[in-house]
Amino acid sequence: MQNNNAPKENLLGNPDSGVVVTGGGSGIGKATCIALASVGRPVSVWDINGASAKEVAEICNSDYGVKSHYLEIDVSDSLAIEQGVDPSVEALGNVGGLVHAAGVPGPGPIDMVDDKLWDSVLDVNLRAGAILTRVFLPALKSSGPGSSIVMVSSIEGHVGSGFLTAYCASKAGLLGLTRALSQRLGMDQIRINSVCPGVVETPMMAPLLAIDEIRDKLSKQAPLGRVATPEDIAKSIRFLLSDEASFITGTSLIVDGGFIAIGAI
Ligand SMILES: NC(=O)c1ccc[n+]([C@@H]2O[C@H](COP(=O)([O-])OP(=O)(O)OC[C@H]3O[C@@H](n4cnc5c(N)ncnc54)[C@H](O)[C@@H]3O)[C@@H](O)[C@H]2O)c1
Repeated sequence: MQNNNAPKENLLGNPDSGVVVTGGGSGIGKATCIALASVGRPVSVWDINGASAKEVAEICNSDYGVKSHYLEIDVSDSLAIEQGVDPSVEALGNVGGLVHAAGVPGPGPIDMVDDKLWDSVLDVNLRAGAILTRVFLPALKSSGPGSSIVMVSSIEGHVGSGFLTAYCASKAGLLGLTRALSQRLGMDQIRINSVCPGVVETPMMAPLLAIDEIRDKLSKQAPLGRVATPEDIAKSIRFLLSDEASFITGTSLIVDGGFIAIGAI
């Protein structure tokens, strides 16, 4: 039977629209900017490290010919997030995608977590995701049906680690935020999902992965026998932003080479 409520093919998604990527200057965020630019999507690279954000924006423009823009910003500053909306929309033409990849690990068992550490981790990893969604909502809405948001959570959002108290709480919080926001955003045909990477070869993990025994152990623990590249995660994010994911919202995609499927953490 034909479903008359299904959107027409040409109304699905917004494949040429711009995407704002926080944490776009390094690791998963950087790979995401490049993966998006490689399929013709304009990108606005947001990062607290302005030099690396600029460099990534330049790569996207010079290597892939897309419009690009960068912003040096601390996403724990809500006012700065709000002030970043108009310049990004103006530079890209419109914004139909948002990726919150900026994150900090803030390691420490509960005995070592003071208010300052707690706030610094939660503000960047979790609160910024909510504020970004709120301030970009009008732009995502006016960009057309098919606008989409991806929050970069972690397998640590699904399983606990005693040494990553605030981090685990922030990443689990992103999963709850994603579920809650899917209802409000669905009213405007905007999708939102989380991606949960396992161990990824990025500057954040570099100190750990530089230790051969740890790298070997983490690689062997995953059924696919290796740690992820940032590009592995970027492709999943690009998928969730695309028409291919047109009926996926409010959920999380674990991209960990099978790490937690076999209880390896
Ligand atoms: N690397 C992993 O194994 C792994 C696993 C699971 C989840 N993640 C998540 O993936 C995301 C990206 O991490 P990554 O591994 O690419 O690390 P990364 O350190 O390479 O990149 C993080 C980026 O976020 C930026 N950033 C940090 N604080 C910021 C702030 N206050 N405002 C704006 N930008 C800020 C940094 O400057 C950096 O460019 C993070 O949310 C992280 O928690 C990483």
